[in-house]
Amino acid sequence: MSQPLPPEHSEDAAVSSAPDIDFSFPTWDYETTAVQSGIPRGLGETIGFPIHAAAAFQFETLAQAQQEFQDNAGLSYARIQNPTVRALEGRVTALEGGTATVALASGQAATLTAIMSVCRAGDHVVATSSLFGGSTGMLNNILPLMGIKTTLVPNNPQRIRAAMKKNTRLVWAEMISNPSGDVADISALAEVAHARGALLAIDNTCGGTGYLCQPLRHGADIVAQSLTKWAGGHGSVMGGSVTVGGRHQLEGNPIYSDGAEQSLLAQRGQGALAWRQRWFGAHQLGMTLAPHSAFLIAQGLETLGLRLQRECNTAQALAEWLSQHPKVGKVSYAGLPDHPSHPLVQTYLPRGAGAVLTFEVDDPARFLSRLRVLRIAPNLGDVRTLVVHPWTTTHGRIPEDARHAAGVTPGTIRMSVGVEALRDLQEDIEQAL
Ligand SMILES: Cc1ncc(COP(=O)(O)O)c(C=O)c1O
Repeated sequence: MSQPLPPEHSEDAAVSSAPDIDFSFPTWDYETTAVQSGIPRGLGETIGFPIHAAAAFQFETLAQAQQEFQDNAGLSYARIQNPTVRALEGRVTALEGGTATVALASGQAATLTAIMSVCRAGDHVVATSSLFGGSTGMLNNILPLMGIKTTLVPNNPQRIRAAMKKNTRLVWAEMISNPSGDVADISALAEVAHARGALLAIDNTCGGTGYLCQPLRHGADIVAQSLTKWAGGHGSVMGGSVTVGGRHQLEGNPIYSDGAEQSLLAQRGQGALAWRQRWFGAHQLGMTLAPHSAFLIAQGLETLGLRLQRECNTAQALAEWLSQHPKVGKVSYAGLPDHPSHPLVQTYLPRGAGAVLTFEVDDPARFLSRLRVLRIAPNLGDVRTLVVHPWTTTHGRIPEDARHAAGVTPGTIRMSVGVEALRDLQEDIEQAL
């Protein structure tokens, strides 16, 4: 299915893309944008993004340097911006249907940056309980150190509405939750958040950088994601990104209405949010993406659609097969009619319910040690099918009740389906069972 891109991507062009790269391709579909965006035409131009191995960039005059230090809009020091990273940011912006992106060193860096761009000490976040364990850990353990508290509730707009407080600035959910496969009802969540003056941020890691869903088009304000997964696609690189849409309201948020930041809003309007994300995540905290990593991720994005479509189709077939298997317990995949999020799949995920599923076995250690094709590794979105035991690994550090709330039991196996032949995967699982 084609997903037309917005008429323009660069509301704040100074933040989102280099002046010499044109990312406005109003009529291109996802697949075309993934391979064509940001690559200039011309004699001797590279096919693909050049890697700029540089820590700093030159000025010709002091006035230029002074202007750049004031605006952070161009190139000065690579902790803040680098042309290869900026080219990737433009591509992610286009693929997510956003207006600006900051690329960062990991998905965790993106999560922290997204939250800190709208929350400060004394603020509150409402998040769904079926999150990736690292996100739950950050919300429960790290953000309270900075005076930001979180209420975790089931993935349900009514429960989220009931948990909203006067100081709630952000609602956080995963597009397709890792690993339970819950789907975020983005329009309903946006309504709940906006009614209370909060913003909606969606972790779109399992939504595959806009391929399965573009949350900003359904009303989300911020998309954060790990680019380590389907974007990189080969288990060879770490990265993350934060993308903003164009309709967020910042006026009621104390960060943008008090003190020093007030001038930021007056100066940059909607662009203040993206500006602050780069300032916080890259400039101040230095969670900067390396240019070589940016190149690998940009290249990975070129085949994301091909890989993820095949992986979704295989995941659907495996989920249906496993759900009938006598040696397998509960199978959780939103593409199955018995999953609570199944009704949302048609609305938000017309291309497929993702490449991750979970299933329960009696003896996880025995099952995992017998595998010959599937590999045990704590990653998602690799071209190879990866399995993990979330109870003792990815979710091992969060309390038991939080693990259950995230859809993880002692028997749960998480599988991120790769591009191998369905028959080989089935045969391997069968012999291991
Ligand atoms: C949904 C989700 N968000 C964020 C992250 C964190 O990403 P990274 O490992 O790139 O820091 C992960 C990692 O597994 C994830 O699954």
